Amino acid sequence: MTPRGGFAVAELIPGPPCELCRGEGRRVVERHGIRRVGRCVCQRLPDRVALYNAAGVPAKHANCTLESFRVELARPTWVAVRRWTDSFEPGGGQSGLILAGEPGRGKTHLLAAVVRELVFRYGVAVKFVEFSHLLANIREGYDRKEGEARLLSPLVRAPVLAIDELGKGRGSDFETAVLDEIVSRRYNAQAGPLLATTNFPLRAPRARRESDSLSTMVLPTLSERLGERVWSRLKEACHLVEAAGDDYRITKGKA
Ligand SMILES: Nc1ncnc2c1ncn2[C@@H]1O[C@H](COP(=O)(O)OP(=O)(O)OP(=O)(O)O)[C@@H](O)[C@H]1O
Ligand SMILES: [Mg+2]
Ligand SMILES: [Zn+2]
Repeated sequence: MTPRGGFAVAELIPGPPCELCRGEGRRVVERHGIRRVGRCVCQRLPDRVALYNAAGVPAKHANCTLESFRVELARPTWVAVRRWTDSFEPGGGQSGLILAGEPGRGKTHLLAAVVRELVFRYGVAVKFVEFSHLLANIREGYDRKEGEARLLSPLVRAPVLAIDELGKGRGSDFETAVLDEIVSRRYNAQAGPLLATTNFPLRAPRARRESDSLSTMVLPTLSERLGERVWSRLKEACHLVEAAGDDYRITKGKA
């Protein structure tokens, strides 16, 4: 995986031409006695590479995989994500996945790793967006007088939508309204699963202690942040995982 232009890019090293289709990529296949022209199996990997390159995984997470995650530092989180990924069935009405926790717990690492698995293992198209970029794009679209349906369509139609840093921003009415629109349209259309990471906690933190980090003290819960409508749908449709452990950005230097 090579980072390029801000996004992670997978590259395919060309091999010898396929013997089944002589490098044409298509061939006649017979299924249940019916002959038709279809894509050759040799196109499976190039197709998945194209899906990955269209996903929009940030370059800095190009090499994040489930294998490169140090499991011993956050085993319950890793196990939950691994289980979700292993039980994924394309088009199977699967629940979504929300990873909530303080900074540096490996949430974006795991999100990028899941995207990689969905694309390369299951051949599913995923759209990865950072919440603030998503909002900025929509705002720019409105300024250009683009219609809402057209603007939201890629987010609503993506077979899997992965949102990093859900809820980050000022928490304005605009932000809530955009998210409400995306979540309820996906919900109504029974689009595929939504994956997300967030710094907003799933539960209200216990009473304040001296040792609490700043982020735990001041943040509202995710439900408070997103509002009842969005939260109600997410809670029903997503598996919620608390990303515990220490801040890897700090601990890695101490190891
Ligand atoms: N358990 C881990 N094993 C290996 N690398 C990790 C682990 N946890 C985090 N990292 C690495 O630490 C860096 C920070 O992790 P990441 O960006 O995933 O954190 P985050 O939980 O998304 O934080 P934030 O809430 O600030 O966005 C990344 O480079 C990530 O690959
Ligand atoms: Mg992150
Ligand atoms: Zn072929």
